[in-house]
Parts: sequence; C-alpha cells; structure tokens
Amino acid sequence: MSCTVVVGTQWGDEGKGKIVDLLAERADVVARYQGGNNAGHTLVLGDETYKLRLVPSGVLWPGTLCVLGAGVVLDPEVLIEELDGLEERGLDLSGIRISGNAHLIMPWHKIIDADSELMLGRLQIGTTRRGIGPTYADKASRVGIRVQDLLDEKILRQKIQTALSVKNVLLRKIYHQRPLDKDVLTEQTLRYAERIRPFIADTSLIVNRALDDGQTVLCEGAQATLLDLDHGTYPFVTSSNPIAGGACVGLGIGPTRITAVLGVAKAYLTRVGAGGFPSEADEEGSARIREHGGEYGTVTGRERRCGWLDLVGLRFAARINGLTQLAVTKLDVLSIFDRIPVCVGYRLPDGTELDEFPAHQSDFHHAQPVYEELEGWNTDISGVRTFDALPAAARGYLEFIEQQVGVPVAIVGTGQRRDQIITVHEVLRAA
Ligand code: IMP
Repeated sequence: MSCTVVVGTQWGDEGKGKIVDLLAERADVVARYQGGNNAGHTLVLGDETYKLRLVPSGVLWPGTLCVLGAGVVLDPEVLIEELDGLEERGLDLSGIRISGNAHLIMPWHKIIDADSELMLGRLQIGTTRRGIGPTYADKASRVGIRVQDLLDEKILRQKIQTALSVKNVLLRKIYHQRPLDKDVLTEQTLRYAERIRPFIADTSLIVNRALDDGQTVLCEGAQATLLDLDHGTYPFVTSSNPIAGGACVGLGIGPTRITAVLGVAKAYLTRVGAGGFPSEADEEGSARIREHGGEYGTVTGRERRCGWLDLVGLRFAARINGLTQLAVTKLDVLSIFDRIPVCVGYRLPDGTELDEFPAHQSDFHHAQPVYEELEGWNTDISGVRTFDALPAAARGYLEFIEQQVGVPVAIVGTGQRRDQIITVHEVLRAA
C-alpha cells in the first residue's frame, strides 16, 4: 500500500492538478481533503481542456475512486454544475464519493464573504469570494450545515431555519442586504440533495479500507502551505489546512498511514490576493512571467502577482509538510530569461539575514530578498523528456533547489500537456 500526499509548497497554483493527474493513472483512490471551489485545476488531455474545481482530477482516469473528504467545503450548486459538465463530456462519475461530514457552502456564506471584503476596504484579504471563510467559521462555531443533512428533509428544514434566524439579521443589519427566503432556499437545497445523495458515503472508512487492502491512495491538497490557516502568512491565508497534516484530519486517516509527501513547487513564484511577497519581481519581470506562464486565476481570472523562486519559503514547506520529494513545475516558463534570480535568504531592516522563514508576521512583511543569480538556459525545453537531455543550466537550477532545500526533485514539468513531464525518480512507491 502507499499513501502519498500531494501538497502545494507556495501560495497555490503550483500545478498540483497536473501532477495529481499524472500520478492518478496508477492510483486506486484520489482524495481531496480540504478547501472548496476556491481551488481550480486546468487539465489538458489531448485536445480537451478540463477546468475542475471540486472533483479530484482522478475523475479523468476511469476506475479511480474520487473522494471528497470531511475537510472539504462544498457549494452544492457548483458541484452539480461540475458533475453535469463532466457527465456531458462522457466521463464516468460512478467513482465519486462525498463525505457526509463535509460542510455545505450556503448562499449567506457567499454574501458574507464578498461583503466582509468590501467592508475591509484596503485591508481586504483578496479572497475568492466563494464563501470559504464564513463556511469554515460556521463549522468551527458548530452551526454549519453538512452534506449528511441533505439526507433528511426534516433536519435540513430545521437547520436552514435556525441558521437563517441569525444570518438574516446579520444580512439586514450589518451587510444591508435583503434577507434570504427560508422556503425558497429550502426547496432549492432539496433539489440539490436529490442530485448529490447517490454520492454520499463514509469516506474515512473507504480510504482506510483501501489502504488495508494494499491499494494506492493519493491525497490531493488544494491551495498550499503558505495559505495554511495555522502555518501560512496569516491573515492572508485560506480558512483550512492545506499542509500534509491536513490530509489526516480532512480524510479521517491516521498519521501512520502516510508513506510519502510530494511537494509541488513552481519553478518561480506567484500569489493571488493580498499579503507579503518578498521575491515579487518588478513590473517588467512580473509581466514577462505572467505572459509566458499564463498566470491568470482559474477560478477568478485575476492576474497573478509574479516573482522569483523563494527557497526560504520552500525550506519552510519542506519542514512543515515533512516533504519526501519535490515536483518542480513550469520550468519551461523560465526559458526566456538570460539570468534567473533565486531568493536564498531574507534580510531584515536591522541587517539580520535569515535562511529560515520568519516566525513573526512583521519580520515577514519587512523582509527583503537575498538573491543568488543562476544562469538561464535560453532554449526551448518543452519537448525534453529526460533529466539528462535538459540543458546543463536547467539541470543546475534543479540541483541548486535540491541542495538548498534538502529534498530530491522527482518530477519536472516542462509544459501544460500531460506528456510534457520528466520523471526523475519514481513517486508512488509501495511502503
Ligand atoms: P479564500 O480561500 O477564498 O478565503 O481566499 C483566501 C486567500 O487564499 C486569498 O488570498 C486567495 O487568493 C487565496 N486562495 C484561495 N484559493 C486559492 C487557490 O486555489 N490558488 C491561489 N490562491 C488561493
């Protein structure tokens, strides 16, 4: 058996979807453990492009079980739209399993998310406005509505009524919005329930049994380490735990089950939303990376902020997640640069240099990057399929990462298509 967690090491958008898709070919189960439709994967399969938001990318491989665990938050409207879209394109949905413990994103969560951001003005977090934070907040307050509530009309009616008795006051008095109609909302949710019901299952049991049977399980993280609620760049984070430890909580598996943790890092760095970004490039560099790397949000279409690889952040990700291997994606995007700055340390205003991620927010916000400039390769590498066939400077770039972070690079991405990948070391090894 093997249980590999695939985790983002930066601020998201590292290309985890493509890596999971690649590994899913040999996995029996692909399981998402947190987040919601704030995530988005673009997968290119032949001439077809798939944009997935909730369903694990394993759905493209027939016969793979695709699990949405308890730690996920689900917008039923978005889920159904995605299921219908996939079905229309001929994909088999019979392998999808959704935890009854996952929480539902309700319309008030989305309104509150968007309006709270507006009220914060310049201080806003830059959320995806998909209702993620307010849904997790209700979960922690123990007033959330869960997927299993869809199975019992009486309970669902009661929960919506109870929630609205508070939320409508908030909507009216704080957010100056019209209250939501209990009956309309309940009828709509009941219609969603019909479509979702067949997929609801005890996903913790399913994943644990799969492991007992010696199967291969991939745990798919959404967002990434620096967006982690507890360990990321708070408050500019998401409201769940994308780090590898989140897989145990979000899926209901013990830590002893995890056999490997693959960290996905883009060869450079991007961030959407607000918050510090020490290695952010200047306007020209950022625009060149964005243009060449197609750095626009899958979910929101927002321009991503672009910069250089940050090894301080990557060392932190290696530590927090216990990374065993790295996948470095989009190496081809750097082919246009003669020289490539890589951030190897942070300098604080008092002159101190750090090679570990600062434990306090104000140090992080004042950190200036210490760069080392590596040689570029200035050659198209999108057709390269082996490590040895890469130009020496590109190999040097990867070796520099390995040496600085202390984690071997197992996979290298050289383009968007499924076959544009170099496998350096095997990833799904049985334990
Ligand atoms: P939320 O997850 O919508 O609450 O947004 C909180 C922060 O996480 C914002 O800075 C978002 O831009 C960021 N974020 C959430 N999901 C993603 C993602 O999939 N990729 C990159 N950033 C994300």
